[in-house]
Amino acid sequence: MDVYGLIGNPVGHSLSPPMHEAAYDTLGLDARYVTFEPAEDAVAAAVEGAGALGVAGLNVTVPFKQDVAALPSVATDDLASAVGAVNTLDFSDASVTGHNTDVEGAVRALREQGGASLSSATAVVVGAGGAGRAVAFGLADAGASVRVANRTASRATDLAAAVEREVDGATATGGGLDALDEWLADADVLVNATSVGMETDETPVPANALHERLVVLDAVYAPLETRLLRDAAAAGATTVDGAWMLLHQGAAAFEHWTGEDAPVDAMNDALRSHLDA
Ligand code: ATR
Repeated sequence: MDVYGLIGNPVGHSLSPPMHEAAYDTLGLDARYVTFEPAEDAVAAAVEGAGALGVAGLNVTVPFKQDVAALPSVATDDLASAVGAVNTLDFSDASVTGHNTDVEGAVRALREQGGASLSSATAVVVGAGGAGRAVAFGLADAGASVRVANRTASRATDLAAAVEREVDGATATGGGLDALDEWLADADVLVNATSVGMETDETPVPANALHERLVVLDAVYAPLETRLLRDAAAAGATTVDGAWMLLHQGAAAFEHWTGEDAPVDAMNDALRSHLDA
């Protein structure tokens, strides 16, 4: 039996176990997905121990993504290195490899559910924390011109500079939330990568800045229909909820681990049945 899992703290409410186990059931794989909560100073030992025990793959979540990216024992791919965070470890090769599938999750959700063509898009990312970094690098890597707006403007300008430095040919600008009106006017894509709207009816984006040419992804998935997505739908925009990003980061992790296409419909059904519960 192959063992996969998640390390983070806390991990009790994670939706990854049902999502991944639905994939194993659908494809008839003899595998299990379990959660681990190492102490904050034990992440290196946890990763080393997982490898020694023959664990096949691990997802990594808060607060360990940055710590894992910095481990000398992990061969981190270029994009995850640039983001500075790893959420997927693959133990199947001689060396442990680290990836960031939050990046792919955002890109696939925008393309597959939003119908967005990113290669010549102008994209606005709200937020410059961990999620904002993954989304900004993903969009720039996909060829979009990126504008990062953040409550703390200096974090946004730092992130934009990092994107331009690390991604060949990228264009990125950073600023405060007051830039949103102007930046959204001619934008094709908007992603909320802040925590605003999680379990509240707030939005970081003024409703009157939204328009029908936008594809809007909200990384927040509790609730699924955030105020931002309601405002976006009312403005005629195409909306993509945060469960799609969660699904596609999981699907991309599954594909790194197994080399097989993920059964996304089954994974999506499992995810949504737990989100509706
Ligand atoms: P994550 O890893 O989920 O991105 P984070 O690194 O703590 O978490 O980042 C949270 C993001 O949400 C940041 O962009 C933060 O803005 P600041 O950099 O100014 O802190 C943003 N955020 C959180 N609460 C906010 C609020 N009430 N209004 C606007 N932005 C907010």
